[in-house]
Amino acid sequence: MAKPVTVLDLQAMREQGKPITMVTAYDYPTAKLADESGIDLILVGDTLGMVILGYDSTLPVTMEDMIHHGRAVVRGAKRAHVVVDMPFGSYQEGWQQALHNATRLMKETGCSSVKLEGGQRSAETVHKLVEAGIPVMGHVGLTPQSVNQFGGFRVQGKTPRDAVHLITDAAALAEAGAYAIVLELVPTALAHMITQRVKVPTIGIGAGPFCSGQVQVWHDILGLYDDLKPKHARRFAEVGEQIKAALTEYREQVQAGAFPTAAESFYMDERALELIRRMTPSDEEDMSEAERVMREVEAAPAPRPVE
Ligand code: KIV
Repeated sequence: MAKPVTVLDLQAMREQGKPITMVTAYDYPTAKLADESGIDLILVGDTLGMVILGYDSTLPVTMEDMIHHGRAVVRGAKRAHVVVDMPFGSYQEGWQQALHNATRLMKETGCSSVKLEGGQRSAETVHKLVEAGIPVMGHVGLTPQSVNQFGGFRVQGKTPRDAVHLITDAAALAEAGAYAIVLELVPTALAHMITQRVKVPTIGIGAGPFCSGQVQVWHDILGLYDDLKPKHARRFAEVGEQIKAALTEYREQVQAGAFPTAAESFYMDERALELIRRMTPSDEEDMSEAERVMREVEAAPAPRPVE
């Protein structure tokens, strides 16, 4: 069995210039597929609030949601490193709250690390978690939990002032001990600059090709979510269309009596069937005959097991 990916492997990949691959997953079968595809990191993102639970932002997601989905993903991932997002409201009160909730995520899901949003403002928290032995991935640029402050899902760091702020944010996270940093919706040149300056891997999403790795949301790259169509997400498949075609065919076959056929059905012993018929007569048949058969059956050896 392949050795699980560790934070040290990720650092080595960065140093060797080997691109790191990461995708979100939210349940057992999709985690298994990601793992079997050789993806290095699986993120149980709080995007699950949008793509799984149908909210219009990640803000309503709870610790219980993350634990429920995190556990399922961990069961499906044998090699990939599983990172679980800390949901909105689970760490903003300070490092004590963050430590309490990060510990819960690690213990109750079995994940290998946690991710939280924010640069300088989260640096102390990152430091405390790392000190407690919890690997932390940072996340700067467009941080979806602050969408209301940004006024939408917009590219960040476009002005010199904002860009300097972002560089400082990333540096603060690396300094605090984050093992990697997600750069979301950041201009390519700025993401490149940050990647060259920080000494930990950067994982881009809408941040161009010069990051140490890339992350994408499962539903965006597989064609399973149409509420938002981010420019940065290439559709590598149209699984939603394939599912619709398959379900239409299923419905049509049931309606036409073409499904299920004998090949998809189960059979039972003819003698057992005959006994059942005699034990359960229809109204017009004699109930005393049913009782006689029942006694006969109870006295007789058990019929052959049903298939
Ligand atoms: O929650 C998530 O899926 C994320 C990615 C967008 C990086 O944070």
